[in-house]
Amino acid sequence: PVITPPAEKLLGFAAVPKSLADSVIVPTGYTAAVLYALGDPLRAGTPAYKNDGTDADFDNRAGDHHDGMEYFGLSATGTPSATGSDRGVLAMNHEATTDEKLSSHFLHANGGTTSLPRPAAEVDREVAVHGISVVEVRKTGSAWNTVADSTFNRRLTALSEVEIAGPARGNALLVTKFSPDGTRTRGTLNNCGGGRSPWGTYLSGEENWSGYFVRSATDDAARNDKSVVSLRRYGRNQGATSRHGWETGGTDDKYQRWDISKKGASLNGSDDYRNEMNGQGYIIEVDPYDKTRPARKRSALGRYAHESAAFSNPVVGQPLAVYMGDDSRNEYIYKFVTKAAWSAADANPGDRIATGDKYLDEGTLYVAKVNADGSGQWIELSMNNPLIANYATYKFADLADVLVNARLAADAVGATKMDRPEWCSVNPANGEIYYTLTNNSNRNVNASGSSQLPPDAGNPRAYTDMKGSSAQNGNPNGHIIRFREGVAGSAATSFTWDVYLFGAESGADATRVNLSGLTADQDHSSPDGLAFLKSTGICWIQTDDGAYTDVTNNMMLAALPGKVGDGAKTTLVYDKADGTKLNVDTYVGKKASADTLKRFLVGPVGAEITGITETPDGKALFVNIQHPGENTALANIGDPAKYTSQWPANAGYGAGKRPRSATIVITKNDGGRIGT
Ligand code: FEO
Ligand code: CA
Ligand code: CA
Ligand code: CA
Repeated sequence: PVITPPAEKLLGFAAVPKSLADSVIVPTGYTAAVLYALGDPLRAGTPAYKNDGTDADFDNRAGDHHDGMEYFGLSATGTPSATGSDRGVLAMNHEATTDEKLSSHFLHANGGTTSLPRPAAEVDREVAVHGISVVEVRKTGSAWNTVADSTFNRRLTALSEVEIAGPARGNALLVTKFSPDGTRTRGTLNNCGGGRSPWGTYLSGEENWSGYFVRSATDDAARNDKSVVSLRRYGRNQGATSRHGWETGGTDDKYQRWDISKKGASLNGSDDYRNEMNGQGYIIEVDPYDKTRPARKRSALGRYAHESAAFSNPVVGQPLAVYMGDDSRNEYIYKFVTKAAWSAADANPGDRIATGDKYLDEGTLYVAKVNADGSGQWIELSMNNPLIANYATYKFADLADVLVNARLAADAVGATKMDRPEWCSVNPANGEIYYTLTNNSNRNVNASGSSQLPPDAGNPRAYTDMKGSSAQNGNPNGHIIRFREGVAGSAATSFTWDVYLFGAESGADATRVNLSGLTADQDHSSPDGLAFLKSTGICWIQTDDGAYTDVTNNMMLAALPGKVGDGAKTTLVYDKADGTKLNVDTYVGKKASADTLKRFLVGPVGAEITGITETPDGKALFVNIQHPGENTALANIGDPAKYTSQWPANAGYGAGKRPRSATIVITKNDGGRIGT
């Protein structure tokens, strides 16, 4: 559907000031209401959430740590509708839980067990609050509510059965006791950013899954094969402990699977779980309209710490590109180009998952190299690339091996290590691709060792704090890089780039730190969520910050960002410890102005702002508030007065005072589009 851009002035609202209040603050003339919080029932028979640590049945409730999210419209009669703005389903990620010393303490009566073994009942709860939920939402008058007994409602958890799709399906790397033929796995885990396909499915990125698995201190010798190289590259050195100790819940496979040292009679055979971690780390595709269809992990898009997945603007007869990032320090930016050319008939297909098979199981994965002259290359990750076929560090067997170990393949080709790629989004107006680079404590002018890197053109800042201290270590405030594809569009293997925006404190040094000229109405740190929404074309930026929370809670800004090349080349000069200078040329977009960047929302205490989607008419905006009160100490679990946040109870939502991750819905009091 063609949505007419609003005639109203965009960013016409008054900027929201920075805030440390335990509440959601939106501009005058707007209303924010809590819609869907941790524990809310998704079935008719599930009781209301008591929020006191005694609740059960989490497979039939909203999960925790709401993150990436998309709205899919429904007609009045409940059929899929690209314009349905009064009724729809929200598909969303439940990334993790608020925890300390193994236990997700807000879920359990006395804060839970903080030593091993963990009780099965606690593990079962924690497993069930991870994953994805689909929930129907409806507008009545001007108010939005979830539909607790809707047949659309669905949960996927860290134990749900999922199909492996694409080149890795059936590969020896995916063989486990659960799936001797390597075609399935259990669960989706640490789902962070999201996305939507042009054929109406939900995509979810599995991010920090590695930390949920335990590995024995002698596993390197026990394995004695190249899987050791892979495990180390993906953050599981031998002796690594698991985040929650789920492997200690009992002898059942559903607990034992989290121990990837468990060995059966044959090496990497069908009787052990040593390949279990190879089943996590993908973009998983879900049909939001049909809960009977199995979710599929799209292995062709590579395995790493996925955030969002953003499609190129579809052009009939041309391939689609899917842009993605790997959110860890000094990791990479990727794109997948479909083998199939886009067909307009697929915009509303009869079988959405089969359409996903068509576009997402065959194609080419690329990784980005960002050059100092403002150009860039997409480098192919396949056995066709001699740098991969002949890589000495890890001998790739086939394409499946390249995709499952995409980080190693990207190392082999010399891709550019970035300052933690979080979300990406494509500007619907011109197809340019925006990536948040949230921060990087390992960016160091005097870099030493393999884990630290000096600043470079695409990752040009290395200052300890927002004021630009002389220590010159780290990029704590992050920035947003943007790419313009070459003439081949989605299939291009070259691009140009600049830095759209640098996070900074408004009072920071304008020549070294506050390079985008931010004022008090715009200053922010650690951009993370980022999405262009189609009704207005506004680029929404959400923060997940540790460097500025002494001054303000996390926030969301609205931006009208211009285009690649609208700024100028800038040289940052650093004084190195050895007395020499380090000059870094970079490309800085046009400076922000009051008309092009404005703070729209500030969240409650301890919360990250993440996940954003709208109704097709642009009159309802859904935003996720993740982990309010995150810094509440486990020792204070019995004393609400000591919770660092009591949101959303203090906004009048739900029972109990324990803070809960939740979706809010924002409307404009005059019924207008959000962001005008
Ligand atoms: Fe889950 Fe990269 O944020
Ligand atoms: Ca994120
Ligand atoms: Ca983050
Ligand atoms: Ca978070």
